Amino acid sequence: MSAVEVAVAALRAVEPEDLRVLRAIEALMARYEHVPVEAVVRASGLHPREVSYRLDRLHEMGLIRRWIGPYVGYVLRVAGHDLLALNALVKAGILEAFGKPLGVGKEADVYDALMPSGRRVAVKFHRLGRVSFRQTKRVRGYTGEGVWADWYIRSRSAAKREFKALRLAFSSSVSVPEPIARNRHVIVMGMIEGAELADVELLDPEPVLADVLLNVRKAYVGAGIIHADLSEFNIIIRPDGSVLIIDWPQFVYKDHPNALELLRRDVLNVLKFFRRRFSVVVGEDSALSFVMGLRDDVPGLYFGGSSTT
Ligand SMILES: Nc1ncnc2c1ncn2[C@@H]1O[C@H](COP(=O)(O)OP(=O)(O)OP(=O)(O)O)[C@@H](O)[C@H]1O
Ligand SMILES: [Mg+2]
Repeated sequence: MSAVEVAVAALRAVEPEDLRVLRAIEALMARYEHVPVEAVVRASGLHPREVSYRLDRLHEMGLIRRWIGPYVGYVLRVAGHDLLALNALVKAGILEAFGKPLGVGKEADVYDALMPSGRRVAVKFHRLGRVSFRQTKRVRGYTGEGVWADWYIRSRSAAKREFKALRLAFSSSVSVPEPIARNRHVIVMGMIEGAELADVELLDPEPVLADVLLNVRKAYVGAGIIHADLSEFNIIIRPDGSVLIIDWPQFVYKDHPNALELLRRDVLNVLKFFRRRFSVVVGEDSALSFVMGLRDDVPGLYFGGSSTT
């Protein structure tokens, strides 16, 4: 069972006291590498016997990890973190039912779900911080955080960043999934349909390239942001042929010290892909000037009249 499946199954079974204990462990992970039982007792305000019963249950459900050293300590497992986020989203009236995986990968798991209104949405669980031991030590060195707190903090901050980028982009009419809600490391967004550019065969590639460049321009000029990880894997071609740009956690603002370098890399990634796959050749300098808003055309591409920002 995946972490999300464990969390969804547990969501039906957890009781308020389980959640109290789980939240106490979550909060204390900032201070302890392994949260001692006494600290959970103090933070939860529950009777020690109750806490011990809840810890056994949560452990059984696969939501927390038990560590036995000089003392007994606990940390959240990924499924426990997922459960806290899902529970909050259900309580907030955002999610009602949970569906199947849409994409399960290295840095995120994406599932479909329903809102109480019946609207279909995509739920993205950020999965970061599965770092090497050396990196972990380095991170611990300056934050003082434990090994487990590391994935926890990084996944959350990736979700925060991505949600921020989606809001900025969406409100500047960049073609991105609609941001709906975020809790912890989980983002709820509009469901999109289509396939990654890497997987589609285009009969008429030029308008698609123009559409991508136009969206990069709207993000830069309109929203003041740069995707910074743009590639054929993060560009979705919808059934009607229009594009969507997804996967924004590594975005930067246009005043970032490396902004231009990152913008250039994004544009070059796209141009190289269109050249290699579709033999569409477009000048790099004019494409870059176009996305920066310094010119309104790119020789060889048609932007359909009033389309530039
Ligand atoms: N809003 C959405 N609606 C429908 N499917 C989506 C949505 N967002 C993402 N997906 C699906 O999930 C996949 C992964 O999403 P995304 O690129 O945002 O995450 P990632 O960090 O690259 O994850 P991975 O490590 O799995 O590639 C996408 O290729 C797509 O198939
Ligand atoms: Mg991706």
